[in-house]
Amino acid sequence: MTRTREIRRAAQTDAAAIRDVARESWHAAYDDLLGSDTVDAVVDDWYAIDRLRSAIGASSHHVFVAGEVVGFGHASPWEGAPDVAHLTRLYVHPAFWGDGVGSHLLEHLDAALAGEGYERLRLEVFAENDVGVGFYESRGFDRLETIEEEFLGETYDVAVYGRPIGSE
Ligand SMILES: CC(C)(COP(=O)(O)OP(=O)(O)OC[C@H]1O[C@@H](n2cnc3c(N)ncnc32)[C@H](O)[C@@H]1OP(=O)(O)O)[C@@H](O)C(=O)NCCC(=O)NCCS
Repeated sequence: MTRTREIRRAAQTDAAAIRDVARESWHAAYDDLLGSDTVDAVVDDWYAIDRLRSAIGASSHHVFVAGEVVGFGHASPWEGAPDVAHLTRLYVHPAFWGDGVGSHLLEHLDAALAGEGYERLRLEVFAENDVGVGFYESRGFDRLETIEEEFLGETYDVAVYGRPIGSE
């Protein structure tokens, strides 16, 4: 399969490939923190094909994929403020980490959100996720706060980051 890095809006037919990338990336990023079985269970639930398809089809959501498919990004409205969008997911297959795919996906999300009048982008990331935290800090996000969140019965430190839209 040819795996180009072109960024495009996700199609309904990308759902299974998105779930596959999510699974690989979640295992690489979160197995140490959550355990491999938990990761598989979360991916099966959160990345169920029908859930992904409804996000891809929702007019208020933006889902982009890179290549066929090596990464994806998903942004949606944030309930806390009308001019703030939430970066719901940004995942790249671990074989491609550090190749610029995540930054490229972020650029496309940023441009799409700017076109809709959003002024800020926020996100939450496990505070222990060094790769994710390093990525966002290198892309100009500021840590707004660190909160405790319950996830499958355990409590984790979660870092909340934000930056103005149009920083890319
Ligand atoms: C975070 C992620 C999306 C970045 O995508 P990417 O394509 O690797 O990122 P880019 O190549 O565009 O950017 C590279 C930056 O990411 C970080 N990064 C990428 N791979 C890394 C690694 N193996 N170790 C540490 N930092 C890494 C660095 O900050 C790097 O900055 P630099 O190029 O200035 O050194 C990707 O690493 C990933 O999927 N991680 C696991 C899931 C995750 O943490 N998602 C975000 C939380 S929701």
